[in-house]
Amino acid sequence: MKVLGIETSCDECAAAVVDKGIVLSNVVATQIPFHAKYQGVVPEIASRMHVRWIYGVVDRALKDGGLRPEDLEGLAVTAHPGLLGSLLVGLHFAKAFAWARNIPYIGVDHLLAHLYAARLHIKGAGDSAAYPDYPFLGLLVSGGHSAICRVDDFDRVSVLGTTIDDAVGEAFDKVAKFYGFGYPGGIAIDTLAQTGDSGAFKFPMPNLYKKGRDGKDHPYDFSYSGLKTAVVNQLEQFRVKKAEAGSGGPPETPAPSGAEAADIAASFQKTAIDILLRGLFRAAADTGISTVVAGGGVAANSYLRARLAGERGLQTIFPPLQLCGDNGAMVAGIGERYLLRGDRSSLSQTASARVRAFRKPYP
Ligand code: KG4
Ligand code: ZN
Repeated sequence: MKVLGIETSCDECAAAVVDKGIVLSNVVATQIPFHAKYQGVVPEIASRMHVRWIYGVVDRALKDGGLRPEDLEGLAVTAHPGLLGSLLVGLHFAKAFAWARNIPYIGVDHLLAHLYAARLHIKGAGDSAAYPDYPFLGLLVSGGHSAICRVDDFDRVSVLGTTIDDAVGEAFDKVAKFYGFGYPGGIAIDTLAQTGDSGAFKFPMPNLYKKGRDGKDHPYDFSYSGLKTAVVNQLEQFRVKKAEAGSGGPPETPAPSGAEAADIAASFQKTAIDILLRGLFRAAADTGISTVVAGGGVAANSYLRARLAGERGLQTIFPPLQLCGDNGAMVAGIGERYLLRGDRSSLSQTASARVRAFRKPYP
């Protein structure tokens, strides 16, 4: 079924066409240059850019797939979670398109779509990993969400553990912002860390394996605020050291550079990923599920990929790199599954900024 997928939940304006799980085209127009000077996504700018770009991005996705609008058999669009103004642009474009062409459309969840990305094949890219059978463990790691889940079907996911504060991608972005490593922070730290020593700095790994106020254990939950604070405090120590050494310059300037910066990036990255993996390994041991499917922007991280590739006893499937971050293919892919099952959204469907499904109430 030829399905057009539209994704505008944050700062990527994206559209793709998928047919039987094969990605025929995948267009991602990133707004990064427009948000870089603010070191974060500015919601109003994001919505306005989507309004400007959405038609051109969809047109390109159709042309790249060698398709005309009348070839499409269905439409899928991210309806939640995300920035409300951004979501509404994609949602209403999709509704208008579906109505005009008289084809079915479905609003999908962005996080379920991330977990679906690894199941897609890119046309002409050769053989990728085989589809894993359900159930498997889902490692959802993005800029807004981090969760370890049990996945029983493409639309049946239960959260086993989640962050109790920042998402892992958010921690990368914030550390990079404080140190001036670049924007967005994940790829900047990943690149810088390649030449760094991950043992140079010891950062804390908070252990939440203790009873919560509800009297239950939360062995798979994790936290990033302590790590973030420790890495930021280290910056203060650099400043004090440089000021004491009289190395000149006002005290606010001397962020580390060169080898020292690479060491900070590598040490932070190792700790951030190890925090995730500790929960994941516990979940695998306790559930007896040894297949892991990763998704979300942080699934592109090279240290995470290397660690899991070397982990005997666990089989991990990652999406192709271009399907880790936000994209329309994952939306079209999961949308095709819903539409084939007969699910439809109504033309009065609305968007929502948050979803409950991926939040585990912490006591
Ligand atoms: O899934 P995504 O594109 O958007 C959300 O749904 O949030 O994820 C974006 C996040 C950002 O925090 C970005 O810094 C992070 O993914 N990211 C990475 C890498 N590439 C992107 N984090 C670590 N290593 C990377 N290579
Ligand atoms: Zn995302």
